[in-house]
Amino acid sequence: MVSPLDKHVALVGFMGAGKSTVGEEVAARIGRPFVDVDREIEANAGDAVAEIFRSWGEPAFREIEEEMASEALRSSEPKVVALGGGALGSEATRRLLRERATAVLLDVDVDTAWERAESSDRPLARDEAGFRRLYDERLPAYEEAANAVARDADDVVLAAGGVHVHVGSLELLDELVPGDGPVALIADAHVAGMYGADAQLALGGRLASTHTVPRGEEAKTVAVCERLWQELRLERGGTVVALGGGTTTDVSGFAAAAYLRGVAWAAVPTTLVAQVDAAIGGKCAIDLPQGKNLVGAFHWPVRTVIDPALLETLPDSERRAGLAEVVKTGLLAGERLWELPDAELVRRCALYKTAVCLRDPEDLGERAVLNLGHTFAHALEAAAGYEEITHGEAVALGLRAALRLSVEHLGLDPAVAEDADRVLAPRPLRVDLDRAWSALGRDKKTEGGRVRLVLLEAPGTPVRGIELPDEDVRRALQSLVA
Ligand SMILES: NC(=O)c1ccc[n+]([C@@H]2O[C@H](COP(=O)([O-])OP(=O)(O)OC[C@H]3O[C@@H](n4cnc5c(N)ncnc54)[C@H](O)[C@@H]3O)[C@@H](O)[C@H]2O)c1
Repeated sequence: MVSPLDKHVALVGFMGAGKSTVGEEVAARIGRPFVDVDREIEANAGDAVAEIFRSWGEPAFREIEEEMASEALRSSEPKVVALGGGALGSEATRRLLRERATAVLLDVDVDTAWERAESSDRPLARDEAGFRRLYDERLPAYEEAANAVARDADDVVLAAGGVHVHVGSLELLDELVPGDGPVALIADAHVAGMYGADAQLALGGRLASTHTVPRGEEAKTVAVCERLWQELRLERGGTVVALGGGTTTDVSGFAAAAYLRGVAWAAVPTTLVAQVDAAIGGKCAIDLPQGKNLVGAFHWPVRTVIDPALLETLPDSERRAGLAEVVKTGLLAGERLWELPDAELVRRCALYKTAVCLRDPEDLGERAVLNLGHTFAHALEAAAGYEEITHGEAVALGLRAALRLSVEHLGLDPAVAEDADRVLAPRPLRVDLDRAWSALGRDKKTEGGRVRLVLLEAPGTPVRGIELPDEDVRRALQSLVA
């Protein structure tokens, strides 16, 4: 199964839906070229679409359209492609969409579409009754072709990453896990007890096997992976579905990445950490005694199904762990996302991470901004032997240090740092400062012996690769230690 990373994002829908405008915006936001098939036709024919219709007739136009759509969809570089409203009349185009694209229906109601189209020179928007008839005629083809339905550019960005955020989506797993091949369901025992039956019911006849992994970090071991590899009976066309928190999605994603040299996987995250962070972006890893996340892969899920309703059973301590990532994301995005109700908060955080990771899927540049606060957090966790402190508490402390340094060195408004501190209220950790300092030096963000930090100039403006004098970094670390 083709990963969303290797697929075009094709916008389909009726005229007046805004495919050209939204397509251009999405292309910029996910770092891909944009092809507007109508514009390509005009550039090639040297004439406006309306004129081609008039002088050559609709059948001739459809032929050129099919050719141009095919050229765009066959190109190997993944693009954002806006298709004309009538393009799905071509069987060849529909087939290319199925094989090579994430087709997103940009939804518009017929009244709005008419309002936008009536004053244009669109050849099929001459009379309102005919326009409305055509809308009703074409809608089923759009719905049939679409892998996702979008109302705006945000929805399209999520769809481009294969991310579906919707209350109640657990019940639609069968539809949402792409293809119709067999599925192996992996969950930790606790999550399986709460949501396993619903997931199994939703997957119906596609469910080939179920597997459990231990709760928490104990799942992320070579031994658990080996057991999963021995239990799995999937062929290349099968899909691993991971239902659970970040530990379950990490180990399952990695097991899927290596099994048969890679089978598809879908993530169904059930914790706040996993819904806003771990299950998005394709990084998955297991731990070694030498350190966390040392063995892993980039293996983008074919679908990430986020059902915010599953957070209702999450204990407070796990919520707090996720809150630190939410505040981090809000600071990076420049929006107070932590103040939003769950469903919206999760959607906006998932959206931010999806866009960054689509622009930099292999973590070669910009994706590093997601490490805001994490250099300090990892150092504290390592010094505490991962036992005295949860990852969420460590990130809350790490953010405190990063924001204080941002105030001192990048002129960040101190009120931003105080605000984040108030929300997260981290408690200093009882840990050996020298141990934490040497762990910080070993962090993977260190280059040429110097720590390179992500700091914040202002909400929404992170800066990466910042090198500061050792004494300043150590002082910031010291302020986190009780
Ligand atoms: N791959 C990435 O990009 C990435 C990013 C961030 C974190 N991570 C990884 O994620 C892991 C942490 O994930 P986590 O915090 O979700 O931990 P987790 O998977 O251990 O889940 C925490 C606990 O919550 C329980 N739980 C899960 N869903 C529940 C629900 N809906 N209701 C009640 N209880 C529920 C689990 O059984 C578990 O005991 C770490 O291993 C971290 O390295 C990975």
